[in-house]
Amino acid sequence: MVANLRPPTIPITEIEQSAFCQTDEDLSARSLEEEFGAGVRWQKLPLSYMRMKPEELDQRIADARAKLGDRAVILGHHYQRDEIIKYADFRGDSFKLSQLAASQENAEFIIFCGVHFMAETADILSSPEQKVILPNLTAGCSMADMARIDDVLDCWDDLEGVLGADNGVIPITYMNSTAAIKALCGRNGGIVCTSSNATATFEWALARGNKILFLPDQHLGRNTALKFGIGVDEMIIWNPFKPLGGNTEQQIRDAKMILWQGHCSVHTRFTVEQIAQAREKFPDVHVVVHPECTMEVVLAADSNGSTEYIRDMVANAPAGSVIAVGTEVSMVNRLASENPDKKIFCLDSVVCPCSTMYRIHPAYVLWVLDGLNEGVVVNQITVDEETATQARVALDRMLAVV
Ligand code: 13P
Ligand code: SF4
Repeated sequence: MVANLRPPTIPITEIEQSAFCQTDEDLSARSLEEEFGAGVRWQKLPLSYMRMKPEELDQRIADARAKLGDRAVILGHHYQRDEIIKYADFRGDSFKLSQLAASQENAEFIIFCGVHFMAETADILSSPEQKVILPNLTAGCSMADMARIDDVLDCWDDLEGVLGADNGVIPITYMNSTAAIKALCGRNGGIVCTSSNATATFEWALARGNKILFLPDQHLGRNTALKFGIGVDEMIIWNPFKPLGGNTEQQIRDAKMILWQGHCSVHTRFTVEQIAQAREKFPDVHVVVHPECTMEVVLAADSNGSTEYIRDMVANAPAGSVIAVGTEVSMVNRLASENPDKKIFCLDSVVCPCSTMYRIHPAYVLWVLDGLNEGVVVNQITVDEETATQARVALDRMLAVV
């Protein structure tokens, strides 16, 4: 067993989280050079792209996109800025985008407007001839950064040390994790899940083992386990910075759920107090939140689900509905403008986008499109063959259970 004595580090993505928080509603893109002024550390581009004004970028993206035709497909996650989403051929949650990436056989290039783990998954699920591009290489995910493969391997060794090799622990990793962690799940009888199919993957896992190691989002893990009647007293947290994750051997033996100590810095901003305020102001309000929110928030809300679930729920609500949404603000603002017959608002009054999704600025999209039109592939995301093969096992299990 390896005692991990590294001091805790806060991912840079989490520190940056507040760089674009503001109290007015205006999140429209400025030139990349101006956005760098917030002190962020993003991928640098040639000055001509850095200085281009939003209107010019918009026109040039339209031209470059048209020139590329169906050689490329642009996928956009719901949290992308409006200036990016307007160019997405498809948009969706992590699950839908992974299915889309697997089904776009005719596109030579998949331009993934989302974050790194999504582009890695697209590379694993697409054909070997296709190239997946992430417009800004620094677009990661602070939650995914909280589970480093070395720490997860240490955890797995520790669990085997305490429980034995044939221990009935099924690893489930949330899509928001590196390909290396998905590969660990693939080779150890585990599975990948997203926020839209976590329940189905728990059913799958509990039919095969008696404990779940859930990575890296403790909140999605806890919220899903509760649906199976697993009590919080049967769950332990695995802190990668402490020996045995901060647990005794007996606690590990007794636990039904081992929750990695990770969280989303966007969704943990939502509170029960915000829900109470929304209900006080609008007695008929429906509160819908993402399951990355804390257990208390999910229990206080009226419903919860993935970004695609939230989008459908809002779209299908009758005219006049009042809906408070606990998820990323770029998406909530878009829902509000797409549903003018309803009152849609974000639970958090501070406008605070996901800082890593926000890193896909239009200048990066133009830069990659221009490159492709000139025969140059920039920012390709590739997962090595061995990792991809093992990760695909865990991803295929997920695609088969839903
Ligand atoms: P969805 O799968 O619901 O789109 O969630 C992805 C994500 O990163 C939410 O923070
Ligand atoms: Fe990661 Fe949270 Fe951003 Fe989703 S919203 S990409 S979990 S940091």
